[in-house]
Parts: sequence; C-alpha cells; structure tokens
Amino acid sequence: MWVVLQALLIIPTQKAAGEGLKIMTIAIYESALIRHFNTRKEALRAWEEKIGCRSSPFRGYKMPDSRLYIEQPDFLDSIVDLVLTNERHIFIRGPVGSGKSTLMLLALRDLPTLMDRRGNRFAVGYVGMSGLYEKQMASAIADALRIKYKRSWETNEIIEAVSAECVRRYIEEKSRTALFIEDVADNQEAAFHKIRYLADLPTEEMKESYKGALDEPIVTLIMSGTMEYWNAMLNFLPQIADRTEPLDVPALDNQKAKEFVARRIAYAQGKIDVFDKDSFEIHPFTDKAIELINTAAKGNPRDIRMLARGCEQVAADEFSKNGDPTVTQGIAKLVTEAYAALLKEVH
Ligand SMILES: Nc1ncnc2c1ncn2[C@@H]1O[C@H](COP(=O)(O)OP(=O)(O)OP(=O)(O)O)[C@@H](O)[C@H]1O
Ligand SMILES: [Mg+2]
Repeated sequence: MWVVLQALLIIPTQKAAGEGLKIMTIAIYESALIRHFNTRKEALRAWEEKIGCRSSPFRGYKMPDSRLYIEQPDFLDSIVDLVLTNERHIFIRGPVGSGKSTLMLLALRDLPTLMDRRGNRFAVGYVGMSGLYEKQMASAIADALRIKYKRSWETNEIIEAVSAECVRRYIEEKSRTALFIEDVADNQEAAFHKIRYLADLPTEEMKESYKGALDEPIVTLIMSGTMEYWNAMLNFLPQIADRTEPLDVPALDNQKAKEFVARRIAYAQGKIDVFDKDSFEIHPFTDKAIELINTAAKGNPRDIRMLARGCEQVAADEFSKNGDPTVTQGIAKLVTEAYAALLKEVH
C-alpha cells in the first residue's frame, strides 16, 4: 500500500519571486513508521471515544487549570499563614515534577484578589526563568512587577527603581509585593544579592524617613527549588535562607492519585464542572492500576501523568484487539516496569 502525499510545497524561488508559487505533488511509500504512527493514533482515538473523551486525559497543558488541581489543604494552609503573618519568605521545595510551578502559578493568580489582616493587598510578579546574571535578574524582576526602567541602566539603578516602586505601592496603594522566583538557586550568585536587597526592604533609612508608615517587610519572596537547591542556599546564602521557611510539596497519596486521574478524565469528557471530589469515577482505570502507578511515581503528579499516558497506550492496543478499554492491574504493572529505569534515572 502506498499513499500520495498531496504536499503543497510552496517554493518561492529567488528569481521567480512575485511570479507566484510553485505547487508540487510528491509520492512516497507509506513507511513502517507512518503506518505504526497512524495505527497508534487510531487506536488511541477509538479508546478515548469509547470512554467518552474528546482528547487524551493525560495530555500536558501549558497553563495550569485550577479545576485539575489536587488540593493539599494543610500545605496550602501553611503557605497562606506565612503570607499573612509576613514574617518569613517562602521556599516551595520539591522534586522535579512535584507541582512547584503549578502551585506558584495558581497562587500568582489568586493572591491579587486577597487582602491581609492589615488590609494590604498584593502586587505580584513572577520570574519563571533561571540561570540569570544580576542585570538579567534585575530586569526580569522589574518586568515581572511592571516597573519601568531603561535598558542602559546599571543593575543597581534598576533595583533602586524597583524598591522605590515597592515602597510607593505600599504607602500609596496599601499593596505589599509578592515576588515569585522559580528555581531560585539556579541563578548566578551576584543575582542573589539583588534579590536579598529586595527581601530585606524596607531599609533602616526608609523606615526613618517614613516614620512608622513602613513598619513591616514590604516584599515577600515565594521561591521554588529542589532539596539540593535549598541546601545550596543554606550554605551560600544564609542571609536569605535564615529568613525563609521551606515548605515541602506533599506527594499524592493513593486517594489523591485517583482524584488526579478522575479529574483529568472528567475534564477530557467535558464534565469537569460537575466533578464531585467525594464521589467520582475512575473508569476505565481500576483501583489497583492507579495504586500501582502511584507507588511507582512515588506520588509525583508529573510521573503519574506520564505513567497514566503509558497505560492509555497499552489499554488502547488491547481495546482494539478485544474491545475492552479497561486499564487493568496487569497493564499498569507492565507500564510501571517498563518505565522503572527511566524514573530511577530522573530522580
Ligand atoms: N496538585 C496537583 N494537582 C494536579 N496536577 C498537578 C499538581 N501538581 C502538579 N501537577 C501536574 O504535574 C505536572 C508537573 O507539575 P509542575 O510543572 O508544577 O512541577 P514542578 O515541581 O514545577 O517541576 P519542575 O521541577 O520540573 O519545574 C504538571 O503537569 C502539573 O499539571
Ligand atoms: Mg517548575
């Protein structure tokens, strides 16, 4: 069997520019790869259709959707407490894929709608890039907080503009600043000293000149990183680490792993808005299958998603053979074993 690819190869040749476009038709044999690719896609589509989904429940999304978020109430409580009491900065600590960025992005969105006990609101900014030098960091912070500066400025001038604006927002708008910085220890050391300056605001001078109007920290840092990065920060930047509370992102337990799978299925079915976390369906997954997946993933949401996607592949193949879409314990065992080496390497 071979296919004719009606490829519209649009070739504007240099000389013929303006003369129009050449259209070519090329014929190629369907390669084994293409055949497998298409068969796979068909099998997946049939499986998804069978369970009433419009797309794969385990696809990745660029931006987190709070309806897919599995809440860990104690963990969220501790973050809220720390932000409200305004005594310490926060370090969201967890392995790769544990949900640090997801949480930060959701908090970034929610914080501006809240008010602390003194009636302060929050101006928020998010620095998602890492590996920055000091000037890049200063510019990234100013951009994140929507503070104007000139490209020609020195790092210190940018940081001065940022701190002046944070003070102004506090005094005039009753807004504390919450600055989210991802993978914080992955930046150049010099960049840290700028962060630290902001972390310590207001300065003694500012406190004096504003006589009592600046009597609490005005910038809260909400940083993220792995345990290794936290340890590096303790060693190299004790000035920040000493004033920072590390909070570990909890792993998902089996019940939450089931909710994770169920929410994603409901989302792909277009039923997420009626999802009930106290009573939900995990079909076509079985309890045992999810427990196996969660054990292999050690409760890490990114790995649960990857394993669930692997299970979807195998279940789809089985479905095309025997008409049963179930993700059995056997399928989960097969998939978790196949991924075991990969998971070990990553962690
Ligand atoms: N609590 C949660 N509920 C539902 N899904 C989650 C949760 N936490 C994380 N996820 C999902 O897990 C995946 C990884 O999350 P995220 O990117 O936030 O992890 P991370 O800790 O920032 O990883 P990295 O170290 O790679 O930056 C994403 O697909 C995200 O949607
Ligand atoms: Mg992240």
